[in-house]
Amino acid sequence: MILKNDKYQIGEIDVLNLVERYGTPLYVYDTSKMLVKLQLMQSAYQGIAIKIKYAVKALSNINVLQFFKQQGIGVDVVSIQEAYIALKAGFAATDIMFTPNCVGFDEIEKAVELGIPVNVDNIAQLEEFGNTFANTIPLCIRVNPHLNGGGNSKIQTGHIDSKFGISILQMRHVHRIIKANNINVHGLHVHTGSDILDANVFLKGAEIIFDAAQDFEDLHFIDFGSGFKVPYKKGDIVTDIAQLGKKMTEAVHAFNQQYGKEVEIWFEPGKFLVSEAGHFLVKANIVKQTPATTFVGVNSGLNHLIRPMMYGAYHHIINLSNPNGQQRIYDVVGYICETDTLGANRKLHEVRVGDILSIENAGAYCYSMASTYNSRYRPAEVLIHQDKDYLIRERDTMDELLKGQISLSIFD
Ligand SMILES: Cc1ncc(COP(=O)(O)O)c(C=O)c1O
Repeated sequence: MILKNDKYQIGEIDVLNLVERYGTPLYVYDTSKMLVKLQLMQSAYQGIAIKIKYAVKALSNINVLQFFKQQGIGVDVVSIQEAYIALKAGFAATDIMFTPNCVGFDEIEKAVELGIPVNVDNIAQLEEFGNTFANTIPLCIRVNPHLNGGGNSKIQTGHIDSKFGISILQMRHVHRIIKANNINVHGLHVHTGSDILDANVFLKGAEIIFDAAQDFEDLHFIDFGSGFKVPYKKGDIVTDIAQLGKKMTEAVHAFNQQYGKEVEIWFEPGKFLVSEAGHFLVKANIVKQTPATTFVGVNSGLNHLIRPMMYGAYHHIINLSNPNGQQRIYDVVGYICETDTLGANRKLHEVRVGDILSIENAGAYCYSMASTYNSRYRPAEVLIHQDKDYLIRERDTMDELLKGQISLSIFD
């Protein structure tokens, strides 16, 4: 988003004009930003075979999936429902990777039935997979390397106390099961968390997996998951994708030589591809002065954007309607009936009732984590593609709130 002649624009599109046409609260996504990020990632790996599988859970609107499909990449899904959405978007089953955690075996069987490659992340299901499919279906194994990656404890998945993956210390047991059942392991997977601050975690993870990989005879790929850190505010540490790409490329070359064949390297970026492409537009309902704070109460809240309350995440906020107003300090809060802070101690150009604020980095884990808590409607979503805007999801109505409820007639 840029400020041009006192108007905020995405490409050639006047953002406040979108508000007039679609109302608020409104999620707006910019495909040009997604494309820049995708190309950045692709160009960081020269001379090795990489595959990118967009993590659907970050933002699962079918149009976003179709955009990525058009770019020639695959997807990673964590539930059978995400798998159905990806199939509906047009992905071939073989371009989808199913990486579930703590699902019933029936969900894994369903994915196999659909022809979708599966990642197993516990010993019990590895055994069940072997008993059920033996060597008829190739399998990927998610390894927990016991590395501490991930910005917030809730999104750290590779440490010893984490529920994810099969411990690197259990590889001997894994090999016993593979041998006994003649399982065909075609991939290994590692994902240590989201918002990884230290890029060395990726390299350390690679070292551990490359070491373990030597004991698997016929690997076709190694999936390094994701966790690439994006900037949420000025001065934030970010993953230097180009530099990481260079170092990973060297490590992959060395591994391939030792392994005796070339394996594909996969990544599953979610946040990296879509976070910065999203803008969440909300309206100031109230400006309220208390003895300690000036609150701006907006027509949204943690029901639409839970990351600040869930992870203590920082999302930059801009007053779009008053770009030259005097700057003042505010707490921007939502309308949910509990503490519902979207941004504390924010210096914003003076906010007046009716002003439109943009909450930035709203592409990843924002709409996809939205709910109807407090019986509020989920927002509409708009996609900007090649300087045209498209409504890609309507705002909820009372019908969605009541859908599925069965009104009993026993309390008359
Ligand atoms: C298995 C797996 N792959 C990929 C991702 C995407 O991570 P990110 O959004 O940090 O890129 C996640 C998210 O936690 C994940 O659990």
